[in-house]
Amino acid sequence: MKHLLDVDELSWAETERILGRAAIQRRTLAAAPAGQPAEPVAVGPATAWAAAAMAPLAGRRVGLLFAEPSTRTRLSFEIAARQLGAETFVIDPGHSSLVKGETLADTVRTLAALGLHALVMRHHRAGAPWVAARYFNGAVVNAGDGWHAHPTQALLDLFTLRRALAARDGLADGTADGSGRLAGRKVAIVGDLLHSRVARSNAWTLVADGAELRVCGPRPWLRGWDELAAELAVKLPSGRLIVTDDLSAAIGGADAVMALRVQKERMRGGLSLAEYVARYQVTDERLSAARPGCLFMHPGPVNEGIEVTHALAVGPRSLVLEQVASGVPVRMAVLEALLGGDEPTGRSIGTERAAEGLAPASAPVVDQSTRDLSSVSR
Ligand code: CP
Repeated sequence: MKHLLDVDELSWAETERILGRAAIQRRTLAAAPAGQPAEPVAVGPATAWAAAAMAPLAGRRVGLLFAEPSTRTRLSFEIAARQLGAETFVIDPGHSSLVKGETLADTVRTLAALGLHALVMRHHRAGAPWVAARYFNGAVVNAGDGWHAHPTQALLDLFTLRRALAARDGLADGTADGSGRLAGRKVAIVGDLLHSRVARSNAWTLVADGAELRVCGPRPWLRGWDELAAELAVKLPSGRLIVTDDLSAAIGGADAVMALRVQKERMRGGLSLAEYVARYQVTDERLSAARPGCLFMHPGPVNEGIEVTHALAVGPRSLVLEQVASGVPVRMAVLEALLGGDEPTGRSIGTERAAEGLAPASAPVVDQSTRDLSSVSR
């Protein structure tokens, strides 16, 4: 395969290679020559510096098709692609022929015929990127599908957490030399686990890296997680996934706590918003039960005052903006790996899984949003 659809399709060697390459790209961005933006955000042609010094993807065309709103993911992919010298093209589904009834398959075939080499795609239907991958002869990157997966968010979260824990504990850069591996670390994810593609992809990478991951929320939002814990216990015995509705148990001794966005319209299954805040809001006071120096994470967008207090979200423990910033180097590393940056051109992410003897990656979860894609399989 030649796409990045979810993290469970990567070999661990491929994951480490992306994180290592992201660490190099992060330093490169920070060391941009005077007079050039350290993290170019200009919309327009790539800067002359980028073109001359680091344009391994010059001549490549990257399409950005976001059928759901996004700030962080879309913009960081765009910056990452331009930083590498690629051209970017935004395809607005609402102003494309999709609204005239063109199928996703035909749209994707059309984009390939127009010469796009990569398609970064967010879609409200779980499994949609797998459909796109069948019909697109370049690389498809899943930028979030339904409640299912968000692989680059999981990669950037792991990258951010390793670096921050290494810095907190006085170790070397946690990604560059591997000292940030999460064996012995305890991480909690709190909130709406049922609807979270971020949590599902993060569960794979955090447990694979050796963490004890506690997922916590009201019982109705933990549906399916006991089954996932049993699956990971077999597939990823280096780590552990614990499912609990007890926030104290989730936070106790944790090195990091990640809160997930809670949406008012999804407050079903017994708890009111006020009850959720009372029982599950992550606060500085509640983190006193965590390990000293416990870090706070959130994939964004944040509902301050709901899943987390304003003080914690913007306070010294918070990695929220660090997560956002990590999106650029991590997505640069992903695009390089898929489109032939530091790797030989045409090399495909995922091809080493079989060589490592890993089982085929799991099928997309089936949720309410897959109905129209009933033919999805892999
Ligand atoms: N974390 C995340 O996916 O944010 P956006 O929806 O802004 O891309």
